[in-house]
Amino acid sequence: MEPIDNVVGSKSPTAVAINSASKAGEWIKSRLGMYKQLDTKLSPQDLVTDVDKGAELMIRKLILTHFPDHDILGEEGVPPGAAASEAALAKARSSEYLWIVDPVDGTTNFVHGFPFFCVSIALAHRGEVIVGVIYDPLRDELFVAEKGKGAYVHGNPTRVSEDAELSGSVVAVGFNPDRQFALPTNMKGINALALQTRSIRAGGSAALHLAYVAAGRLSGYYEVGLNAWDVAAGALLVKESGGIVTDTTGNPYDLGVRHLVATNGKIHGELLQSLKDAGATGMQ
Ligand code: IPD
Ligand code: CA
Ligand code: CA
Repeated sequence: MEPIDNVVGSKSPTAVAINSASKAGEWIKSRLGMYKQLDTKLSPQDLVTDVDKGAELMIRKLILTHFPDHDILGEEGVPPGAAASEAALAKARSSEYLWIVDPVDGTTNFVHGFPFFCVSIALAHRGEVIVGVIYDPLRDELFVAEKGKGAYVHGNPTRVSEDAELSGSVVAVGFNPDRQFALPTNMKGINALALQTRSIRAGGSAALHLAYVAAGRLSGYYEVGLNAWDVAAGALLVKESGGIVTDTTGNPYDLGVRHLVATNGKIHGELLQSLKDAGATGMQ
């Protein structure tokens, strides 16, 4: 974290990330069941509300107040679809300081009143994530990670689980809204994992799944078809809690990874092999 503390003023970027996630989270919670506008993006399953947009605006303003020279990659500022998302990341990733924001991760849950969604904010320095904050406003759970300094939930260190085998693990999966490519691929993985794990979960928030892997509540998470803002903060949380984050073929995580496996480390190889055998890596 050395260079960043000196960039602008006295406020640390971690404090700004926490403050922004908390303020946006409180507001999102206050709007639960009271969104004014519901639109679809790429498919009828890909939802966005005025609350997603309002929360992103709020977070952008708070970040830029303290770090006016930094760049921001926020979900609601990018046109829908994998190609647009990849293009936006390609343009932004060379930024010296890039904030990566998912204002509401779990919008379908938010819309339906299913209480599992969060705010996810990461800061990358020259393409490497150095701060990750995930806030679940309904449980008032704040997950914070700083590169090289560990990860915490409300000040208590997080640690990945000890499960050593898939058969004794609970693993999260995702039902991606892209029904052309991602969902069919995920379904192959889900079919395999349902039989090989103790049980699978699909809570509907990639970022919270990652925070739960970091906290040892899940031993792994797999999904094909994610975007940088779904993963950046959570990936740092998992790594700083002793876990491993790669793509579905085992390459180390970087901001461009869309097909993701995050685990406690101990079940990583077994999970990757299972996806390979099931033809569920999403890689050609
Ligand atoms: C979605 C959620 C969901 C995952 C999707 C994401 P959003 O993000 O993380 O769990 O399965 O792939 O797009 O749209 O709610 O921000
Ligand atoms: Ca998301
Ligand atoms: Ca979102």
